[in-house]
Amino acid sequence: MALSTEKIIVLDSVGSTNNYAMGLIQQGQATHGSSVFALEQISGKGRMGRTWNSGKGDNILLSVVTDMKWAFMQSQFLLSMVAALSVCELLEKNAPVKAFVKWPNDIYINDKKAAGILIENVVKGTLWQWAITGFGININQTDFKEELNATSLSLATHKNFDVLQLASDLKDTFLLKITEYQAGNEAAIVKAYNEKLHKRGETVKIQTNNRVFETRIKGVTKAGKLLTSDAFENEWDLDKVKIRY
Ligand code: BTN
Repeated sequence: MALSTEKIIVLDSVGSTNNYAMGLIQQGQATHGSSVFALEQISGKGRMGRTWNSGKGDNILLSVVTDMKWAFMQSQFLLSMVAALSVCELLEKNAPVKAFVKWPNDIYINDKKAAGILIENVVKGTLWQWAITGFGININQTDFKEELNATSLSLATHKNFDVLQLASDLKDTFLLKITEYQAGNEAAIVKAYNEKLHKRGETVKIQTNNRVFETRIKGVTKAGKLLTSDAFENEWDLDKVKIRY
């Protein structure tokens, strides 16, 4: 898949950039790399039905459409890995920080959440058609509710950034990494993701249904399962357990 030279659609205000991108696909107007950026979302979506709030114009609210007809649905977590690695690269390029991925794809700097990723797919039967990767990255916002345990590039550097320029860089990095994924560099992607895994090798609390227990994070498989070790070795499916910290 060639890299896209398409311009980013920039909106003042929208419900959700992911929904807008989905509309482009449904109207046959999307191509690989079509991207939507908004200064503000009225009903921004987070993972697992949560909402995503962001100060107007402060942050990256970006959705990138990718043509996934060449890829297998079974390896869809690789896209999540590629997206998370792209965000880490962007943050580390712009600030003297180390960025980590809290499984499955929250991005942390200084032990606080700096970004979230929401991927939505268009599937025909069992065939993957399109993906919409939605990035919410805290850039210039400096005020967050305490309970969010959030941070931003600005809080980490005491600088202000051009959010649209950063969004454009992110889109280019993400599309470039997708070509590497398509070229078959799966093992390298899984390795890079695991090297960025937050608290890898450390003991954390994880929650499954109503049970909370301590376990050591060993890594994440290509399929996105979390590997842990305590009295037992375990493999946890996506969204069946939550790491608590
Ligand atoms: C999460 O951590 O729960 C994922 C948050 C993803 C937010 C982004 S902002 C751009 C895109 N549009 C949305 O409505 N959500 C994603």
